[in-house]
Amino acid sequence: MLLYNDIVKEQDPVLRQKAALVDLPISTNDLRTLKEMDEYLTNSYDQEFVAKYKIRPGVGIAAPQVGVSKRMFCIQADDEKGNFHHYIVVNPKIISESEQLTFLPNGEGCLSVDRNTQGLVMRHKKIKARCQLFNFDKGDFEETILTLTGYIAIVFQHEYDHLDGVLFVDRINKENPFFVPENAKALELEK
Ligand code: NI
Repeated sequence: MLLYNDIVKEQDPVLRQKAALVDLPISTNDLRTLKEMDEYLTNSYDQEFVAKYKIRPGVGIAAPQVGVSKRMFCIQADDEKGNFHHYIVVNPKIISESEQLTFLPNGEGCLSVDRNTQGLVMRHKKIKARCQLFNFDKGDFEETILTLTGYIAIVFQHEYDHLDGVLFVDRINKENPFFVPENAKALELEK
């Protein structure tokens, strides 16, 4: 079981590496790593667990964040309409992205960045990604093209960045951290 101390923090060079493609069919070891990562996110939604083990809740986690430099990550997050998305993703490739940008009005956070940060992170509002996606019914991975918009697209791009050694803080405008380009609009949360 992974706890917050098991998450690799900002200074660790593994977070700066370009992660390697995952060999397919997936190995027992890689699958175990993914299950542990996914379990960390599940536990993030269990308030008693969070309090007891003092974990920092997360909606996404990438393999480099547990010290494994491979192209895989997990997401468990509600989108802006309240729909829950649960993805276990291997070897993703973003194949198209909208010109329109979006961003979280309060900025992003990361389990590996353990400090206060200020500034906005621009993301593509809509993306298409090809990946090996875990099919929970079949219990196996399937080549899938995901079309994602808004909040889930933001989370996906954040995790995808981890596979290329990029942290969200790198994407904050250094001169003007709250600069909003013309083609960007803050993500609106629907109630
Ligand atoms: Ni992160």
